[in-house]
Amino acid sequence: MKKTILTIAMILGSLATGWCDSQPNIIPAPQKMQMGEGTFVVKKGLTIVSKDVKDFSANYLQDKLDDVFDFPIAVSAQAKAQGCITFATDKSLPQEGYRLDVTDAGITIVSADEAGKYYGVQTLLQLFPAEVYSGEHLRLKEYAIGALSVEDAPRFGYRGFMLDVSRTFFELEYLRNYIDWMSNHKLNRLHLHLTDDNGWRIEIKKYPELTGKGAWRGKNEVIPPTYLSGSERYGGYYTQKEMKELIAYAQKRNVMIIPEFDLPGHALSSTAVLKDVTCGTKTEKASACGEFDNVWCVGKESNYRIIDDIIKELADLFPSPYINIGGDEVVFDYWAQCPECQALMKKEGYEKAEELHGYFVKRMESIIAKHGKVMMGWDDIQDNGGLRPTSTVVAWRSQAKGLESIKHGQPTVMQTGDYLYLDMQYSSVERGHNWASIIPLDRMYSYEPYQDMQLTPEEEKLVIGVQAGLWTELMQFPPRFAEYQVYPRLCALAEIGWSAKEHKNYADFYSRMVNKHYDRLYAMGIAFRVEPPKVVYQDAQLKVTLPYPSAVVRYTMDGTEPTVTSPVVSGNIVTDAPQKFRFSTFFGRGLHSVAVGAENVELHRYLTPEVSVTSDIELQKNNKLETITTYNFSKMIRSKTKVKAGQTLTYTFKEPVACTTIHVPTGYATLPFYGVSDGYVEYSYDGVNFIKGEDFHHYHAYIRNLEAPVKAVRIVITDANDGWSCCFQNLKIE
Ligand code: ACM
Ligand code: ZN
Repeated sequence: MKKTILTIAMILGSLATGWCDSQPNIIPAPQKMQMGEGTFVVKKGLTIVSKDVKDFSANYLQDKLDDVFDFPIAVSAQAKAQGCITFATDKSLPQEGYRLDVTDAGITIVSADEAGKYYGVQTLLQLFPAEVYSGEHLRLKEYAIGALSVEDAPRFGYRGFMLDVSRTFFELEYLRNYIDWMSNHKLNRLHLHLTDDNGWRIEIKKYPELTGKGAWRGKNEVIPPTYLSGSERYGGYYTQKEMKELIAYAQKRNVMIIPEFDLPGHALSSTAVLKDVTCGTKTEKASACGEFDNVWCVGKESNYRIIDDIIKELADLFPSPYINIGGDEVVFDYWAQCPECQALMKKEGYEKAEELHGYFVKRMESIIAKHGKVMMGWDDIQDNGGLRPTSTVVAWRSQAKGLESIKHGQPTVMQTGDYLYLDMQYSSVERGHNWASIIPLDRMYSYEPYQDMQLTPEEEKLVIGVQAGLWTELMQFPPRFAEYQVYPRLCALAEIGWSAKEHKNYADFYSRMVNKHYDRLYAMGIAFRVEPPKVVYQDAQLKVTLPYPSAVVRYTMDGTEPTVTSPVVSGNIVTDAPQKFRFSTFFGRGLHSVAVGAENVELHRYLTPEVSVTSDIELQKNNKLETITTYNFSKMIRSKTKVKAGQTLTYTFKEPVACTTIHVPTGYATLPFYGVSDGYVEYSYDGVNFIKGEDFHHYHAYIRNLEAPVKAVRIVITDANDGWSCCFQNLKIE
């Protein structure tokens, strides 16, 4: 059969003339793909041929195809000349690689290993209708697949996703979904951030209190409430038995689970629970996440015995060659005043407390090596002294930190925050952090692991791979927001990790997303982020640019969020009230983008009367109450500690303000972070007598149905907030 060679570059060429229907839209893009002539028609009688009829990939494929076809599909060890999907082995193929051939006669998947076989199946599934992932019974009688030949293998061996299960606890079922979705994208490393200040998530048999107490946060718990957990007792953990099941589930799908036990900082869930593991000294300096007393003492020999016990259990439980000990963002002040840490400094001849961090990391290396594993940690582990050659660094602070690690000769995984942190906002109008960067899909896609590095071929090999990470301080609410943050950005990461650098092209990737892959994500059941339209107001018209040609954008004219029954945009909208319009892109049944207005129109016209603010809440040094009166909505002020019951903050207007609604936001402007958990608002027409308004809900409270001009508004705290600090903002007066 004559084959036309169609490389990725040629697909790019064809894009210039429009979407190509015959394009298979594979994500991540394979290394080599040739389209052939003719088709293989899947129809009744199809057999999956595998020497081992119990083989996982063969049965997985059968299960998926059973859902879309109207006939039973057998797995058989008996080869046939026609009408089969045949698995074969070729030991000369690269690790995790495969060859997939579709001809008139049948389909073959050849690989050297189980992973390659599974990935051949994943590529094959992408040639079927998207419903192959949904378990929806299409009852197809036949389906034609265009002849093609794929030769494929990954660019990097380590293609990961990091999930923080400490700040938000994810049920096992949810983790299984994540493993499925990762493996559908040929991602193969799940780094579980199992411990942090706000929750301990893995059973340790020798120290049952780690999960007994450390897995729970709440008002009467050892771990205080944080991150919207409020007055709820929040938490959960995985038993070792459950984790074993999850590990086995992941292994079948070529996903290795790497455990992280974050030490010596980020450790309140162990330091608050275990006896005497901290120095017992105090500091004014909060950790990066605002915690205190969350650092293990490095001078107490007994601590190394406890850590050894815990690492032994982790090493026995997880087949991963790596144990990640975190090592990031340690406040050294505790060590600087601790007699035991000081004695150790003297003994080792150290001058600065941070040198103890290097000491601690070396002790971790030897404990981990004793249990037959390799140490992994955040790039902070290289800050204070040399590491063993096998110790593996995850570069998060910058590309330069990755380069430093490579120059030291360490195997390195790139997870730089400014491109690969999934807790960052997609855009300025969406929820999320932005301290590292705003990360739209194209920015994540543009990440190149060797960027700004100029490495020798030997040094290049030290970049073992790449991963994206989801920190979950903000993921408990709304439900499934984690999926929004992860997808579609993890599809981009998959391509960074798998596809050849020369084949990377965002326009091509985006066309594959739009032509087919969003349908696949939808069929997988992922609550992914739908891209909003771009809207501008020009010449008295709202001009809407769809995110892609087939997008369905709906709108409202009253400032509310569009729903599935709102009208669909078709053409420009003539209006003299552009600030009232909101637009959302809708996908399938139930997914939609954030609602946006025209980007060059001020959507809310809040009143900004002259106001003074008074409070008995102690504020941080650089945060002054006067800043709250400037009506700069990005400004906020922060308390020095948690607020307390009975404290108040009062806004008094110079002149009473005529208005209908006052919105009292607390916390960060774009994040549900550090706001009032328990409290209510009051308002006064005369500045003397106050009337109770609403209680705070998710850090916000409202005063509505005002009958006269308002002289003052007061926030009354009824219980401590659930973060270490509480933030206050301008009032939104309409
Ligand atoms: C980190 O973001 N602290 C690794
Ligand atoms: Zn100490």
